[in-house]
Amino acid sequence: MARAEIAALLPQMETNPLSGRRLLELKGDASIKHLAEAVAISSGCQAILCNAVIWSWEQHQSLDALVTSVSEHIALHEREGSVAVRAWRHEGRIEGLGPSQLAQKIGGRFHDLGYAIDLEEPDNRFGVVLDASSNTIACGWMVGYGEESDGLASRKAAERPFFKPVSLDPRLARLAVNLASGPVARGTTLDVMTGTGGFLIEAALSGRSAIGLDLDEAMVSGTVQNLEWALKESGQKEHKGLVLHGDATALEHHLPFAMLPIVGFVLDPPYGRNSQGSLAPLSLLERVLESSSRVASADAGMVLILPIHPMGEHPDSPLNEDEAINLLHGTWKETEQALLKAGWSVQAKWVEHVHASLSRLILHATIVPRD
Ligand SMILES: C[S@@+](CC[C@H](N)C(=O)[O-])C[C@H]1O[C@@H](n2cnc3c(N)ncnc32)[C@H](O)[C@@H]1O
Repeated sequence: MARAEIAALLPQMETNPLSGRRLLELKGDASIKHLAEAVAISSGCQAILCNAVIWSWEQHQSLDALVTSVSEHIALHEREGSVAVRAWRHEGRIEGLGPSQLAQKIGGRFHDLGYAIDLEEPDNRFGVVLDASSNTIACGWMVGYGEESDGLASRKAAERPFFKPVSLDPRLARLAVNLASGPVARGTTLDVMTGTGGFLIEAALSGRSAIGLDLDEAMVSGTVQNLEWALKESGQKEHKGLVLHGDATALEHHLPFAMLPIVGFVLDPPYGRNSQGSLAPLSLLERVLESSSRVASADAGMVLILPIHPMGEHPDSPLNEDEAINLLHGTWKETEQALLKAGWSVQAKWVEHVHASLSRLILHATIVPRD
């Protein structure tokens, strides 16, 4: 999912998987501004390494040989200004190689090459990732903050003033918003049935124009409270988020014209005791999907989250097309038909484990071009 998120945030770049579980190759041209925005608003991308190179540890097997390769690489990709080296681990340890020692040695080579070292406020950061899942070392000029906290880890839905068991985890909500909507400048994100504001808060905190809508007035006033609280906690002064009372089956009657069309839909329909819908689950979904396509841009995206019966862990890849999905309400066939009928084409599906008796299907769809 994280790979799909980055591909959505940087549509001008080609993305290719690498052998490291948490590494991704990006090819193409994007400005530093676009790269920085993608890292800053992503749900978990630590950094983009520019002019990057990746070596297997077997190629070197000695710290000195590795440091020599790094310094040869730096000499080919010079930068102006001071430097700090940041090195960190992914997925455990590489035998015989530690990040602090490596960072120090590389820092020494930068010094020898005439760079000023500034660990506090450097003009440039040089990032080194030691990936134990693939026994590789990736390095390059860094955009983003690497291992330092991104704020999402400390933000918990349960700490908001208005909390319900249905509240989404902020990291999943952020990922869904990005995957559905793409770059911030594309336009408005709609949290179609906002509940306690899970998606809306993440969209607004990432600087997006965003609307959250709910049929239940208590959810609307609770979400207003949550949004203001989240903004204050984040230290941001303003946002472009709007909370509306309305029916998701008739979106065209509720959304302000100036915020149309919608480029990204994020949808977590009601289920179970904690969250009642205005109609039976499948009819509600059908009508909301149809209503969404009536206010969608020609290139709109959607992320739909549906409760399913547990089907094991699938952490690294989307589900195969023919994989059986056991929804809590209705069948997968009916859901797929509802999506198609309303003009949405499924791009990928993932599964996330919630607890012993519940998982979630996370589905990415795009609007089918109309004449
Ligand atoms: C599962 S909850 C959403 C939870 C949300 N993602 C969060 O983080 O809190 C579903 C929401 O759909 C709302 N809802 C049900 N029928 C609706 C309709 N026709 N139009 C708009 N909202 C509706 C319910 O009031 C409920 O708040």
